Amino acid sequence: MRVFDAKLKLQSQLRLMRSENNTIGMVPTMGALHEGHLALVRQALSENDVVVVSIFINPTQFNNPEDLNKYPRSMEQDSKLLSELSEELLIFAPGIREMYPESVESVSYNFDGIEEVMEGKHRPGHFDGVATIVEALLRAVSPDRAYFGEKDYQQLQIVRKLVSQKQLPIEIMGCPIVREPSGLAMSSRNERLPKRLRKEASFIYKTLQAAKVKFGTESAIEVSDWVDNEFNIHPDLELEYFEIADAETLRPIRRKQKENKYRAFIAVYAEGIRLIDNIALN
Ligand code: PAJ
Repeated sequence: MRVFDAKLKLQSQLRLMRSENNTIGMVPTMGALHEGHLALVRQALSENDVVVVSIFINPTQFNNPEDLNKYPRSMEQDSKLLSELSEELLIFAPGIREMYPESVESVSYNFDGIEEVMEGKHRPGHFDGVATIVEALLRAVSPDRAYFGEKDYQQLQIVRKLVSQKQLPIEIMGCPIVREPSGLAMSSRNERLPKRLRKEASFIYKTLQAAKVKFGTESAIEVSDWVDNEFNIHPDLELEYFEIADAETLRPIRRKQKENKYRAFIAVYAEGIRLIDNIALN
């Protein structure tokens, strides 16, 4: 396994590999790796000759400085987990100046409204930060395919839009959500949950599953009201939003239409720790 902190060195290595007709897959991450990340890396390894995993905690996508400070940093453990998957992996772990040579600021994007709902509405500036760093990472590596998890479904749709707007010749691969045995979607933030709350937090996925069943016979408003009430009576979990939206455009559902695909999205606070999840409804 080779670790690069400089773009130019990584690029000259990749040029060599590309000249030998190798396909390149890329998995962008912020480290603190868990099974959710490793599933993306495994899929990338199975579909490409060479895989680059980037590890960079991107300050511009944190709308809350405390969240950035508390973000777990575990390069040693991450390298160990990755080397267990494959010794052939290339790790790109740049410093801040490598990715933001001038100022640590995001570019401003317009993604036709996808960036304004749900996570975009509740985390101002978040998706400008995500798109800024994803564009920079994709341009630095120029992979054939890049892998993103459905855990951050809105992010995935934004990256698809970004690649299409900027005409980057990269295939964006969406990968299913990996969950803990309790059903809780895996996340680096789960480590910060006290044991009792971590168990309680499985309520989020249980509610999504029940909402999916209800959506078979009830309207989106009825399902949303039911979810609001479930969280109102839950002592430890505070609902930030629950939305049923079109899986493609992420526009809030108006009237249910058979030919459309819908998804439910949720954000919940558990003692100040923000957890998100989503589920396909049909
Ligand atoms: P990070 O939160 O580290 O996640 C890296 C990738 O792993 C993302 O595509 C995310 O959706 C995926 N992922 C995380 N948990 C998952 C789970 N339980 N199941 C499936 N996939 C999961 O997302 C980011 O980093 C950043 O925003 C980034 C894209 C790297 C830009 O900074």
